[in-house]
Amino acid sequence: MHIRPTTAADIPRCVTIRDAAFVDNELVNWLAPDRAKYPLAWRQRALAVQRNKLYQSNAWQFVCVADTDDDFAAVGEILGWARWVRRASEEEAAADPWTRQLSVLDRVESWLRWAELKFEQAMYTSPALIQARDDAFMASAMTSTGFAPIRAATHWHLETLAVDPKYQRRGVARRLVDWGLQRAEAETEERVARGKPPVPITLIATAPGLPLYRSMGLKVVGWDDASYMGFPVEGGSNMIWDASNYWIRDVEYEEPMERGVVEAVYSDSVLPKSSSLHAI
Ligand SMILES: CC(C)(COP(=O)(O)OP(=O)(O)OC[C@H]1O[C@@H](n2cnc3c(N)ncnc32)[C@H](O)[C@@H]1OP(=O)(O)O)[C@@H](O)C(=O)NCCC(=O)NCCS
Repeated sequence: MHIRPTTAADIPRCVTIRDAAFVDNELVNWLAPDRAKYPLAWRQRALAVQRNKLYQSNAWQFVCVADTDDDFAAVGEILGWARWVRRASEEEAAADPWTRQLSVLDRVESWLRWAELKFEQAMYTSPALIQARDDAFMASAMTSTGFAPIRAATHWHLETLAVDPKYQRRGVARRLVDWGLQRAEAETEERVARGKPPVPITLIATAPGLPLYRSMGLKVVGWDDASYMGFPVEGGSNMIWDASNYWIRDVEYEEPMERGVVEAVYSDSVLPKSSSLHAI
């Protein structure tokens, strides 16, 4: 198997995989409790959202596809996918090499996709989704403090990772996560040589994702239960990759807490004033 950039033609399959992988996910269940009752409305909405995201200038989306030696799937079949989001600091944003300069055509397409989504949201109330919850969830990304010290710095964020349940435990997710790790490692080396801060990775792990990310060197720094937004959901772990311990320092113990284990804390100089660490 190998990974390649996602194209617009891949989006329907990616939506199918995402729905199958997240069928039991508590956040999706809370946002869209009636999606099984209204599958067409749910799918139409999901397609519009995913098409729109494909044209985001800082989104790097990949699919993992089967090759001839993967006898468990048809050659070319999409097995899983991921979306990495580049978040450049304010000072570096204008010249950031990982923020795409969109061509005029892509910009037009991007605008049309955005308009399509906004029009649909304004004109139709999807019965599959509770819009107020979705709005609150979107806004929460801006208020969560779990990554506060890193948020203003240039970093990568793994926004979505989904593998078809039929093809899990075959190394699909590892390949997709490795793409971001390799970027962050290479950039960190090159930037540190120029006296600049390293490039960390952030993500919020679900319970199934946690062992995978841990095995790839990410550390749990807190818990994002979104209680500040009033979400009645368990949440997930705030995880960070920061191999040189520039932003975080390892804790020497693994003390079991109510919601898992903290493996690292922010270094004193960058400790957030108010953080979701309190929730652990
Ligand atoms: C989490 C998920 C992406 C993992 O995908 P995957 O392709 O099965 O993962 P990989 O085969 O690459 O696993 C790599 C390693 O991660 C760990 N791992 C993955 N799934 C695991 C599980 N269910 N239990 C324990 N360890 C697991 C193992 O160490 C595994 O290596 P191994 O198989 O050699 O032991 C997949 O289970 C999924 O899509 N889940 C639902 C959606 C989701 O929660 N996404 C993550 C959002 S943060």
